[in-house]
Amino acid sequence: MKELADQICSDYRGTEPILIGVLNGVVFFIADLARQMTIPTKMDFVRAASYGSGMTSSGTVRLTKDVEIPIRGKPVILVEDIVDTGLTLAHIVEILERKGPESIRICAFIDKLERREITVPVDYCGFQIEEGFIVGYGLDHDEKYRHLPDIYILR
Ligand code: IMP
Repeated sequence: MKELADQICSDYRGTEPILIGVLNGVVFFIADLARQMTIPTKMDFVRAASYGSGMTSSGTVRLTKDVEIPIRGKPVILVEDIVDTGLTLAHIVEILERKGPESIRICAFIDKLERREITVPVDYCGFQIEEGFIVGYGLDHDEKYRHLPDIYILR
């Protein structure tokens, strides 16, 4: 976490990026990340309609909470728990780009590679995995297991 935060801080030195977390799964990660950062940041959140009770994406993504901090002309770092097909992030980036930020980069706790359907540039990531369904540390399955302090593979 410290290395990730240091990398972001060195890239954004002299600026005040807005961290935009994608609720709900991101809460533990963004809290840990932001606390390790040594440059000033602002924080806001968006929420996209989630997977529901299944283990695969429906392919439809809907924003149910938008950002409230003005992001026009500002550097934005979109912070996500896990990138799977990439559809959620691609959709959110498109919506945020319409608001005219100076830049948008993506920071994901986990970059899950196997099922990627759309290319999304994950600029910063905690770690990469090929496959598997991960729970804990904010990540859920049907709203369960979010509270677990560590991450687990659901079988
Ligand atoms: P994508 O649109 O397929 O990239 O899906 C991204 C979202 O799906 C994430 O923000 C999670 O909410 C959910 N998701 C994808 N894979 C997992 C997983 O392994 N565990 C928990 N949630 C996941």
